[in-house]
Order: sequence, then structure tokens, then C-alpha cells
Amino acid sequence: MIEFKNVSKQFPAGFRAVENLNLTVRRGELCVLIGPSGCGKTTTMRMVNRLIAPSSGHILIEGVDNATLAEEDLRRKIGYAIQQIGLFPHMTVAENIAVVPKLLHWEEDRIRHRVDELLALVGLDPELYRNQYPRQLSGGQQQRVGVARALGADPPIMLMDEPFGAVDPITRATLQDEFLQIQSTVGKTIIFVTHDIDEAIRMGDRIAVMRDGKLVQYETPDNLLAAPVDRFVRDFVGADRQLKRLGLIPVSDVMNTDPPRVFITDTLEAATEQFTRHNVKSVFVVDKRDHVLRGWLDREQMRTGRSLIDAMHEGNVHDIAVRETASVRDALSVMVTRSFRVTPVVDKQGRLKGSITLNALQEIIQSRAADATNGDGVELGTTAESRP
Ligand SMILES: Nc1ncnc2c1ncn2[C@@H]1O[C@H](COP(=O)(O)OP(=O)(O)OP(=O)(O)O)[C@@H](O)[C@H]1O
Ligand SMILES: [Mg+2]
Repeated sequence: MIEFKNVSKQFPAGFRAVENLNLTVRRGELCVLIGPSGCGKTTTMRMVNRLIAPSSGHILIEGVDNATLAEEDLRRKIGYAIQQIGLFPHMTVAENIAVVPKLLHWEEDRIRHRVDELLALVGLDPELYRNQYPRQLSGGQQQRVGVARALGADPPIMLMDEPFGAVDPITRATLQDEFLQIQSTVGKTIIFVTHDIDEAIRMGDRIAVMRDGKLVQYETPDNLLAAPVDRFVRDFVGADRQLKRLGLIPVSDVMNTDPPRVFITDTLEAATEQFTRHNVKSVFVVDKRDHVLRGWLDREQMRTGRSLIDAMHEGNVHDIAVRETASVRDALSVMVTRSFRVTPVVDKQGRLKGSITLNALQEIIQSRAADATNGDGVELGTTAESRP
């Protein structure tokens, strides 16, 4: 879909911002460009929509050299969310979003309809926001408008230069989730620039790591974390990369889908039998009707209770369990915080769907580390890099 072929950019002063770049972004994929400040990310991106002309090499868009495309084609095909948001301050939100559709001579009605549709898509009520000016919005709202503007003419390709750079970490995480949600329905081909490795791992189908104008490694997030090609990439992804990999595994992929459970209406004898049958130290207690998690029983404490409810540990589902959509890393975090050896997994309604044990986690980490070509960092929290 987007192909860089031997692309270099030398600025007049003689500075080589991009050197012999070869990179292919497949249709519907989100490619993250990442690297230290000044490594050539923005330059690379701006060569795609020809805001910067390469000194040598070619960039193909759907197989066609972008040097041969008409201006209008470029505008129609490629949306651009620039670094630092870059909304026009003297234009309303609606006018900002309408910039490209206007340039493409869309009819007024179609533009108005599109603006409202996009505002709703990025989570801003059109009634409230379409006539506001950028300075009246929070940073997060401005970034949403920036994304809406880039989506304006529904281009198949989006260039997003640190689109969530100017907001606090919590707002950023929300924007990331919202954008991934949008992307799962619109399926654009995206080049996304960031220098935040966590954002890259979360957002990217593949991650291109750049350094001094050169592509150092181009891989899926998991492969990048598993096998950084050199010291630079290894340092860049961070010493906790084995932990970060756990953040990529949905807990639903690895959980035990039939954990030992008893009903809250059961007798203590019935519960004791579960311990023996499954040879476990604890079992979950659920409602009989819909299996909503109510708490758990510890084997040791069984003797002291007179009834099951007496012996049970009650817990707020949100504190003791993780959702099906959580990552293995989230599950680990619950275990560490609460000193659990097993974490229940629940659905949105709090119904018990599975469980994951610390032992199972350890096995996952060990097998994944063995996969990695330079399989260091086997134990939790003591990767090779963090040892003195
Ligand atoms: N118009 C220009 N003329 C001369 N040099 C330039 C020009 N634009 C960028 N450069 C240089 O090219 C290099 C790459 O710049 P670029 O903006 O692509 O970096 P970046 O990776 O996007 O950095 P950041 O993370 O800070 O945004 C930098 O050293 C920059 O100074
Ligand atoms: Mg930049």
C-alpha cells in the first residue's frame, strides 16, 4: 500500500535526515515510526504526501509513484494529523474539520453531515463543539479534532505525527483506546509517529525503529520486544521488555476456562470436596443463577467456618478479578498487589469466565523467553539488562 524504495532525504545544508529507507506498510496496517528526536520520523512521513520531496528513491502509493500523483489525488488519499495538533486558531472546530473536503469541492450539505459524523466518531457532541474555537477546548479535545480533521475526506491512508503527544498520560491512554476502536471499524492504512515505546507497542501492527535517518528494525511489537536486533533497540524498548510482552497477551488466550468453583448456596462439605477433587488451595464462590463472582474460599480457613458464607472471603469483583479483555500483565499486577497466586477472570457483568495462576504465568514467560533468539530475561523483574 505504501512502499518506500531506497528513499533518502538530504536537506540543502547537507544534513542527511533520511538514508536509504526501504519500508512497506501493508493495507489496513498501522505502522509506528519510532526513534529519538531528530532521527527523521517527521521527514519520512512528510515525503509520503509530498510536503517534502525525497532527494532520491521512490514512494509508491497503491503501486503508483507518488511523484506522479495530482495534488488532488494526494489530498483525497492521504489524511494528515500534524505534530502539535496544528488546528487553525481562527477557524471553528467545524471549519477545521472541513478543510480538506472544501478543497475537494464537496457540497455544503455533505460537508456539514461529515463534520457531525466525525465529531461523534471521536467522542465530541457536535451540538456542543462544532462552533467552538480551538482555544476553547482542552488539549485532549483538540487532539480529537486533529484526528477528525485527518479523517475528513475519508482517506484510505492516514499520516499521524505524534497525534496524542500534547496530553497527559491518562487522556492519552483514553485517546489511544478510542482511536484503536475507530481503526477497527475504518481499517485505514496508517503511519503513526511517536517516541513513546508504550504507545508504539499498544498501537502498532508493526513498529519501525529509526536512528540517525536509518531504519534499524521493522517488526511486530512482540517480535521487537522478544528479539531486539542490537543494543540501541534493546535500550530503546526498555529493560522490562519481557513484562511489556505480557501486556500483549490477552488473558482470555491463556486462562483456564473452567476453574474450580462452588455456589454461594452450597454446603461446606460440598466445597471441601471441590478442594480434594481439584487439589487446589482456593476455589471461587459464585452465584448459582448466573455465576457472578462473589468471593473465594481458602482451604486452610475451611475448618473455622460454620457455613460457607462464614468461611468465604468476600471481594469487590473489580479489586480481585480482571476482565476477559485485560492482558496477562494486568493479571500479574493484580496478583502482585493482592498477593494472590490465582486471579479470577470475569466478563463485563462480573460472571466468572476463567482463572489464571502465577505458575501458568511463569510458564508463559519461560516458553516465550525460550522462543526469543537471544532469550535473556527469563525471570520476572530480573532481565539480563537490569542485573548489576
Ligand atoms: N527543513 C529542514 N532543513 C534542514 N534540516 C531539517 C529540515 N527539517 C528537518 N531537518 C533535520 O532533519 C532531521 C530529522 O528531522 P525530523 O523532523 O524528521 O525529526 P523527527 O524524528 O520527527 O524528530 P522529533 O521527534 O523531534 O519530531 C533533524 O536533524 C532536523 O534538524
Ligand atoms: Mg517530528
